[in-house]
Amino acid sequence: MTTPDFLKQNGLDLEQIDRVAILNAFAEEMDAGLAGKPSSLMMIPSFISIDQPVKTGTPVVVLDAGGTNLRTAVVSIGSDGCATLGEFRKQPMPGTTSALSLNAFFEAFAEFVSPVMEATRNIGFCFSYPAEVTPDCDARLIRWSKQIQVPEAVGQLIGAGLKAKLALRGFAPRITILNDTVATLLAGKSAGVARTYSAYVGFILGTGTNTAYVEQNARITKRSDLDPTGAMVINVESGAFCRIQQSVFDQIMDATTNDPGHYTFEKMISGAYLGTLGFVVLKEAIKAGFFSAAAQQAMLSWSALSNKHLDDFCGGKPTADNPFLAGAFTAEDHALVRTLCTPVYARSAILTAINLASAILKTGEGHDPARPVCVNVDGSTYYRTLSADFQTRVQNELAALLKPYGVAYELVKIDDSPVIGAAVAGLM
Ligand code: BGC
Repeated sequence: MTTPDFLKQNGLDLEQIDRVAILNAFAEEMDAGLAGKPSSLMMIPSFISIDQPVKTGTPVVVLDAGGTNLRTAVVSIGSDGCATLGEFRKQPMPGTTSALSLNAFFEAFAEFVSPVMEATRNIGFCFSYPAEVTPDCDARLIRWSKQIQVPEAVGQLIGAGLKAKLALRGFAPRITILNDTVATLLAGKSAGVARTYSAYVGFILGTGTNTAYVEQNARITKRSDLDPTGAMVINVESGAFCRIQQSVFDQIMDATTNDPGHYTFEKMISGAYLGTLGFVVLKEAIKAGFFSAAAQQAMLSWSALSNKHLDDFCGGKPTADNPFLAGAFTAEDHALVRTLCTPVYARSAILTAINLASAILKTGEGHDPARPVCVNVDGSTYYRTLSADFQTRVQNELAALLKPYGVAYELVKIDDSPVIGAAVAGLM
């Protein structure tokens, strides 16, 4: 059997991806989510509008709980819109390396942020997980994504839990919680003051993936308590999109996760999963008789394969510690790894473009080329993936998808977007 046939038989077939059908399904799921009808897209109101002026010259503590790291910084925004970040620290996100109790989880956050609490009364807390936001910007965790292991946190108010622990240390801050895509959107808005944009989108492709955009309150019909003349940022939770065909490889990997059947889309495209998914492809290929005996033996002895190692290898820039450089692999084995796994990254790029297009179109703006939609893109997987000409592929696919709609958009990159956006929100 040829490698293309093997991939096709298992459902990893780039030609078969019906981009328009998936884009339409995204639009339907978004509308259903706004209306409170059954949908895989939660369309979570953030209670953050983008119309308020950014408060300048006041320090705010930022906590950034991402899929891999927990970071803190003291941030000030200058009158020119530029952010100054000080006292930057990071550690692994609690619950990533081992399971934690709820008490230990909040204790870890309080311990981490306490050293900078003298700086301010405000915390902007970027929480990169699906959480229902309250009108006063606390957030109740709906479920964990990205394989975090703190089961007792589900259903809990994250801001209130942290506040209770900080109170024991003598601090009583005001905490504003927002999703990282909402923060990224705000960072795009605050840095884009010099440019006229018609709308804003925040997009992340890192450990996980997601989009945010600004919606008219009148269209968020699942809530009856909103000012119908206003607008607010919506956290789409696009990683949970499920109207997409999984390959056999996706199904095998999904079954090994903490949340099988959930976050189908994210598991097909984001950094937490691509290495594992590629490893499944390789192990299934071994079963089908691909690879030399030595390479088979080597790969079957690995307990895991990191996204970095697989991507570096397929992208042609492996570092000396890359497992595929071991003597067991022949040149033919190397070529096989690349032909079997590059499509995993190419598919991620295609689906990423569809995700971006869905959010851009949902803004309903961008019809005047002088006022494009500003799409602030953040995340290590988007910027660092080497394989499949990743960024170029995303951009070409996106341009092709949006061409029929005549929508003008601009992809922008602002360093530390989640931190800057959380600072903006923490000062609102
Ligand atoms: C989370 C989202 C987050 C995204 C990007 C997903 O796993 O559910 O809330 O925005 O990752 O970090």
